[in-house]
Amino acid sequence: MLTVKAIHVFCAYTTGLGFLLRGALVLLKSPIVQHRLTKTLPHIIDSGLLVSGLVMVISWSLSPLSQHWLLAKILALFLYIGFGLLMLRWGDTERNRWVGLIGGLLVYLYIVAAAHSKSAMSFLQFF
Ligand code: HEM
Repeated sequence: MLTVKAIHVFCAYTTGLGFLLRGALVLLKSPIVQHRLTKTLPHIIDSGLLVSGLVMVISWSLSPLSQHWLLAKILALFLYIGFGLLMLRWGDTERNRWVGLIGGLLVYLYIVAAAHSKSAMSFLQFF
């Protein structure tokens, strides 16, 4: 199970780095954004993240209803996806693409800090 967690953590940090890189490429209007690898690699990493997360949840019998950090993480994941779509697809103006990038990065940091601290308050507990 340690391997599954290691895969999860690896995918977690790679998805964040990939998000930042794609955001930079979109804002720089680079044609690399349209490259097949740039489009498929994130799907592979995100599938690995989701599947490894689900494997841990099922094998450790974790319930999002009693583990609030887990529920918060799953809900925040939808926000992260939404900001990603705004940045890559829906954002028709540069301002909207910036909102997608900054919003997505903030939600990503929230998820990582919630996972490490096992608290739904995440980094907000420091304010
Ligand atoms: C962007 C999405 C996600 C990120 C960035 C992320 C990040 C992380 C990180 C960094 C850890 C290691 C925490 C630690 O022990 O120090 C972790 C653990 C974990 N994550 Fe995720 N995660 C994400 C999505 C998910 C999803 C969707 C699920 C469930 C379906 C999930 C379930 C878990 C579980 C069960 C653990 C192990 C907690 C433990 O050690 O008890 N994660 N996650």
